[in-house]
Amino acid sequence: MNTQIKTTKIDTTHTLLIDIESCRQLDITPIAAWFNTDFWRENNAITGVAEGRGTTLFVEHQAQAMVLRHYCRGGMVRHLNHDIFFGFSTEHTRPFQELSLLRYMHSCHLPVPTGIAGLVSRVGCGYRADLVTARIPDATDIHQLISQAPISEEAWARVGQTIKKMHQAQVYHHDLNIKNIMLDNHEQVWLIDFDKCRKQEGNEWKQSNLNRLLRSLNKQKTKFPDYCFEPQNWQALVQGYHE
Ligand SMILES: Nc1ncnc2c1ncn2[C@@H]1O[C@H](COP(=O)(O)OP(=O)(O)O)[C@@H](O)[C@H]1O
Ligand SMILES: [Mg+2]
Repeated sequence: MNTQIKTTKIDTTHTLLIDIESCRQLDITPIAAWFNTDFWRENNAITGVAEGRGTTLFVEHQAQAMVLRHYCRGGMVRHLNHDIFFGFSTEHTRPFQELSLLRYMHSCHLPVPTGIAGLVSRVGCGYRADLVTARIPDATDIHQLISQAPISEEAWARVGQTIKKMHQAQVYHHDLNIKNIMLDNHEQVWLIDFDKCRKQEGNEWKQSNLNRLLRSLNKQKTKFPDYCFEPQNWQALVQGYHE
């Protein structure tokens, strides 16, 4: 069991998960109310919204910018069941797994968001869940960036270097697509969205993880003819990866 993620039963249905070390460093104390959109609305603390699979809320609390994400299901099953996951043990829930992996990646000095807290809400034999991470300052996902203008060859190379570092830490990214890679004002690359990601031994999966990213870029290029992604960008990325 990961003892760095503290679990506290709030009542018969809710369990709060806290990354103790991150909260100590950021000097914040998560509470269950943080996982209720009304709390932030009433406190006038919503600074933005991002629409992905679900809605992601950007909030600010005691000068700490944070991101609140509700876990939504993917694939065909989402048409029947939008957000309920199955399983009883808290340690196996999506937010517990993601917070644990973020903590591990932090210890490897990987550029990923700081995990803060999660909430597991029991429903029958399943649960709904939410996650709070620290917001990466002044960062935009690369999909959004290259929908408007090219990014530098150095930035593409840095994307490759960053994925390489993640792979060297033996982390498999389940959804390695360009919307889950961000670039900040200092041209630093960040990786996000570690739902269903895990530590994985061996090397044979690494190339297919990279191929997935290429497929997602090519798919966007067919959808948006002005998409700023060219073969030489991929070459720069691969070079960065193999440096
Ligand atoms: N820690 C973070 N800092 C800044 N922006 C974030 C962060 N986490 C998510 N975002 C933004 O919110 C969007 C959706 O978040 P993400 O975790 O990828 O969820 P999903 O893809 O399941 O909707 C991202 O594409 C990114 O633009
Ligand atoms: Mg995402």
